[in-house]
Amino acid sequence: MRSKLLVFLALVALVIVAACAPAPAPAPTAAPPTAAPAAPKPTDAPKPTDVPKPTAVPPTAAPPTAAPKVLKGELNLLCTPQQVWCEGMKKEFEAKYPGVTVNFIRLSSGEALTRIRNEKANPQFDIWWGGPIDSFIAAKAEGLLEPYKSPGQANIIDPKLMMDNDPNPQWVGIYVGSIGFATNTKQTAIKPPTSYEDLIKPEMKGQIAIAHPASSGTSYTFMCSILQIKGEKDGWEYMKKFASNVLIWTKSGAAPGNNVGLGEASVGVVFSHDIVKNIDVDKFPMALSFPSEGTGYEIGGMGLIKGAKNPELAKAWYDWALEAKTQELGKKYTAYQGLTIKGAQPPKPELLQVKLINYNFDYCGKNKTAFVDKFSNEIAAAALAK
Ligand code: G6P
Repeated sequence: MRSKLLVFLALVALVIVAACAPAPAPAPTAAPPTAAPAAPKPTDAPKPTDVPKPTAVPPTAAPPTAAPKVLKGELNLLCTPQQVWCEGMKKEFEAKYPGVTVNFIRLSSGEALTRIRNEKANPQFDIWWGGPIDSFIAAKAEGLLEPYKSPGQANIIDPKLMMDNDPNPQWVGIYVGSIGFATNTKQTAIKPPTSYEDLIKPEMKGQIAIAHPASSGTSYTFMCSILQIKGEKDGWEYMKKFASNVLIWTKSGAAPGNNVGLGEASVGVVFSHDIVKNIDVDKFPMALSFPSEGTGYEIGGMGLIKGAKNPELAKAWYDWALEAKTQELGKKYTAYQGLTIKGAQPPKPELLQVKLINYNFDYCGKNKTAFVDKFSNEIAAAALAK
């Protein structure tokens, strides 16, 4: 009887302990999916407001840096930005990967496109770095680029605008720049232009320097901006008048800044970050101005060359170029473009805080060959013959 009583008391104690135990924590529930931002329709041209305001982007914590892979060999780089930046990037990449030698050639956008087109059967370059994406879009349409998804693309500030949205992306944006006007301030006859109309006034005859749009992405950005702002019919009429005022046609887009700085021309049409470099670094007597109607802008691109002989090295460059720290290196080599990676601090954010047009990269990229041919055959030839 006593042992039965003990068993009974033990059971009662167990029931009390179980009743007082804390309730199990509820199983964690999945966070409700956040609504994806409405994607612009694919046919929508990029809006000026789509252009990143680099300062407005909250810096993200830098991901832990993985130990660099041990790579060996030679990387053949087709480089379109400024020579000094190309040289600097070669040095920086070789310091990160001591087993790799970077061979590069600097070619303007149009020349670069022609070169990779001509070498399609036997590519001599592994990667193309820099120059407005209009040429990368044209290269993609001709089957000259190799698709690649780099982990860095997840950190692009504005993916809709700054990378190829194809499921097999073939190019990505690495910088941003707005077109500006450079005016030599030692001469007083010509005031810094503030409208496209200023460039076609009679007093501007023989005063302008600009690159040829067949060779230069800078000049093509200007021409395609005009064709969009005015429409093609009036745009080509404008280009005729403009071309008849041009004194110097250069090969490279940034070269007219030097012509203006040295007093060889009064006004140059150049990317604004190149003009800032001419003012701050070269100390040229020069003013920067923008057209009040809104200015065109570039997204500088990067793409792998189809059939490249060193794809692994090319991908290492591609991944590296999409790191915030790499993008910030531009400033060290006097390249003041806006940047495309979250957390990267652009050196001159104000250059993109001007009125930008609704530049349609797809339109300008797909029509590049046709527009350049039309300009070369119908306008430049006539302007040069005068
Ligand atoms: C300069 C600019 C770059 C631009 C490049 C295009 O280097 O700083 O932002 O992408 O010109 O070169 P291109 O000679 O084709 O006009």
